[in-house]
Amino acid sequence: MNRRDLLKWVSGLLGTASALLMGVPGIAYVLADVFRRRPSQATVQRVARLSDLKPGRPVQVGVVGSRRDAWTVYPDEVIGHVWLVRRDTDPASDAAADKQPTVAAFTSVCPHLGCTIGLDATGRRFVCPCHRAEFALDGQRVGNGNHAPRAMDGLECRLVRDDDADDWWVEIAYEKFERGLTRKVRRA
Ligand code: FES
Repeated sequence: MNRRDLLKWVSGLLGTASALLMGVPGIAYVLADVFRRRPSQATVQRVARLSDLKPGRPVQVGVVGSRRDAWTVYPDEVIGHVWLVRRDTDPASDAAADKQPTVAAFTSVCPHLGCTIGLDATGRRFVCPCHRAEFALDGQRVGNGNHAPRAMDGLECRLVRDDDADDWWVEIAYEKFERGLTRKVRRA
């Protein structure tokens, strides 16, 4: 290899290296986004009996799980709260699905900055005490100038039959989500 070829080879190598270095932040960003979207370890738990819920009357329940603080694991701590909203059935409807009770579950963590969402005095609207973001019982934002960037974060929720008690349990999958974003992203 003569001197000219050697210089060409070295400059090509340097160009490739600098292109790779410039691309690293972009690659890291894409990988971080993919990583963030991976299925999280949700805490699946039965939190209430269906018979204890009244249609249109939200009820807040605690979720118990283990919490890790550095090297210490605290089992059986309250790790979050969830709002449950039983929906009215429609006995006049011909559709079988309309006659079945359903329950919606929302984390009580405000999607704005993470304060705990409560109920207003009427019990018909959710409200965050920190910046007064308001939400309807289906979790959607209401009102002008709402600080919340998105609706309340809904959780997976299903009814599980308890034959012994002749009742149904409400089972939820509790997860946490990033705050301040317009879309719902699971926390790693
Ligand atoms: S933290 Fe809920 S509105 Fe700001």
